[in-house]
Amino acid sequence: MQGREQWATRLGFILAAVGSAVGLGNIWRFSYVLGEGGGFAFLLAYIICIFLIGLPVLLAEITVGRKGQSDAVGSFNKLAPGKWWKLGGILGVLSGTLILSFYGVIAGWVMYYVYSYLTGSAGSVAEGEYGAYFEGFVGSPIAPVFWQVLFMAIVIGVVYFGIKKGIELANRTFMPLLALLVIVLAIYGLTMEGAGEALNFMFAPDFAQLGNMEVWGMAIGQAFFTLSLGMGAMITYASYLPKETKLPSAAGTIVTLDTLFAIFAGLMIFPIVFTFGLDPGDGPGLIFITLPEAFGQWGTGGTIFGLFFFLLVAVAALSSAISLLEVGVSWAMRRFEWSRKKATLTAGIIITAFGVPSALSQGGPLSQEIFGLPFLDLIDTVTDQYTLALGGMITALFVGWGWNKIEVLRETGLQDTTVGALWIWFLRIVAPIGILYIVANNFYNMFL
Ligand code: PHE
Ligand code: NA
Repeated sequence: MQGREQWATRLGFILAAVGSAVGLGNIWRFSYVLGEGGGFAFLLAYIICIFLIGLPVLLAEITVGRKGQSDAVGSFNKLAPGKWWKLGGILGVLSGTLILSFYGVIAGWVMYYVYSYLTGSAGSVAEGEYGAYFEGFVGSPIAPVFWQVLFMAIVIGVVYFGIKKGIELANRTFMPLLALLVIVLAIYGLTMEGAGEALNFMFAPDFAQLGNMEVWGMAIGQAFFTLSLGMGAMITYASYLPKETKLPSAAGTIVTLDTLFAIFAGLMIFPIVFTFGLDPGDGPGLIFITLPEAFGQWGTGGTIFGLFFFLLVAVAALSSAISLLEVGVSWAMRRFEWSRKKATLTAGIIITAFGVPSALSQGGPLSQEIFGLPFLDLIDTVTDQYTLALGGMITALFVGWGWNKIEVLRETGLQDTTVGALWIWFLRIVAPIGILYIVANNFYNMFL
């Protein structure tokens, strides 16, 4: 076997990791959970979860990957041969694969909107008709599958070319574009009439909702999802890092940029929602129905904004999907000793095929509910609320308890520091208890 690939530069890794983190989660998911969670209260709970649980677990994943120099399962295997810790990696590969199956579907919807704003068809829907427009599209037996497959083909194409020439290059191109788009659109949002109300909604202190466990459940789910935790993505990306890279500052940069991006996304979306008197609590349809409705009422300016908005979302989704596919590809390359090309095509095709039932479950021919949920929502719920959190918890427990503390701290360069000592205790106690509590709560809300 030839040597494993590596990132060309540390910046390349950071951009790729930020590319993985910044995705549908920051725009589509963040905005609707923020809306449903009542704005400020959710934002506060979310930021607390990000710093108490997300950041420590992210650093743990990066440390496991860099030290292990292998895929999500292989890294655990190398650090703790023959132990059951590798279950964390197995859960990761499983979750990454499941998530990509439906992530590709939603990203396909986004690509369809880019196309429709480009051709003008999305801009000319009658007022009040965007709900029907969206449902007509996702309910059709062919269109959602077509766009899903097209999106996945691009993802497969990038991963096919490997770490430096595929993933790193793509992220170097996309990340500056994303930053530019979100900043310009957020500044524009802040000039709109509803900006004051939006700022109020996001930042005016309101602590009443903080007692609401559901808000916390949403916040921690969002923290995991948005930082790409619990599914081996960060372990896998970090495994292509050379030994010298400083890890804590990389983790800090990733968390900061991901959080800033989500806040900017809020600043671009909510002013529009309030300017046009729409409901921020509209749920998953927020960016596909509510926003287009606003763009429509706004006229030509709205069509242009809509085009750039969906382009931004599509690029963000692409860089995240790339990292999800790489989890399975990296695993298959080691496990079956396949070439990158063979692993990419095989994993890509299987995941795309598995996504088809999700694509057809939103009003299309496969809309029967399973356990009370359409197929896409079922996979989303199972991964978001359970497997991600459990995978992340195993990593936290492994780094906190299972792995030699001195070695862990040496690997991160945090030996003999207060930060290092704190970090270990967060991994040992705070993160696992927080995660368990929330998972139990999700379970209770769902079944009892
Ligand atoms: N973090 C991504 C987002 O916010 C989603 C994602 C999860 C990407 C897991 C890769 C791995 O959209
Ligand atoms: Na994110």
